Amino acid sequence: MKVFISRKIPEAGLFILRDAGIEISEWTIKRDLTPQELIEHCREANAFLSAGNNKLDKNFLESVRHLQVISLHSVGFDSVDIATATRLRIPIGNTPGVLSNATADIAFLLMLATSRKAFYMHNTIERGEWGFSEPTANLGIDIRGKTLGIFGLGKIGFAFAKRAQAAFDMNIIYHNRGFHPAAEKQLQARWVSFQDLLENSDVLSVHTALTSETQGRFNKEVFGRMKKNAIFINTARGAIHNEQDLTEALTKRVIWGAGLDVTNPEPMRKDHPLLALPNVCILPHIGSATEETRAAMSILAAKNVVAGLNGERLPFVVNPEVYG
Ligand code: DGY
Repeated sequence: MKVFISRKIPEAGLFILRDAGIEISEWTIKRDLTPQELIEHCREANAFLSAGNNKLDKNFLESVRHLQVISLHSVGFDSVDIATATRLRIPIGNTPGVLSNATADIAFLLMLATSRKAFYMHNTIERGEWGFSEPTANLGIDIRGKTLGIFGLGKIGFAFAKRAQAAFDMNIIYHNRGFHPAAEKQLQARWVSFQDLLENSDVLSVHTALTSETQGRFNKEVFGRMKKNAIFINTARGAIHNEQDLTEALTKRVIWGAGLDVTNPEPMRKDHPLLALPNVCILPHIGSATEETRAAMSILAAKNVVAGLNGERLPFVVNPEVYG
């Protein structure tokens, strides 16, 4: 049995694959595969472990319908046409849970860094501008005691809310399709309507999956309904906000600041106007990028491959419908 892996992944996952007697074929060149290259490599394998920015659309899936499993090295599965995979009975695996804390840390980092203009101030030193300082120049805003609004309170949002409350005594409100009893009990979090979330959040953080419902949800009209001193945080998927509308909302001071670990598109171009704004902190999608977390992700992804190749149900399956 052979697995094709589209990026170098941590040794912990490779060890599990080797231990199961699976032959590994890895793409080690530092560029994305073209769609055709991806299909060709997958045609020679029984399983595909997808790491990186591969778009697993209808054409791809129909070309590799023989695959016994596609295992994603991510929790997000918006890169996959799940309906087609299910129709073709290809189980799709992901890596839930293990990256919640690392991603929540990045949301916390962005909240604090944005509130104190940290990245911009760092850049002023590099530009040789650390000279005359005035008591009224480059002021940030305090986070303590403010209201954190979570859009999509799941594992990552909950971990972030816990940090925000413990560190800064923040009030937590959230908007979900359903309720989150643990957050309500442990953090006194309150479910609110989307409108109330926008009107009352001092920091509004996005933790939802990218779906047709959430795509472009944070647009000009929505930013216009937020508080003037609000900070917008997105560590989920860049396509959930409209980047041009966000840029305009920040330059016209419709909202106060933004911290992003995800952009649309990725990578962001180096001359993007958002990068020059003082109240904006941007990271290149590093939410899960710690040694421990990436190792844990590789273990779950490898376990999904092993199960799939053994004809067993994947331990972390996105489309359980394939099992009828
Ligand atoms: C995930 O696992 O979905 C992270 O965003 C990395 O892509």
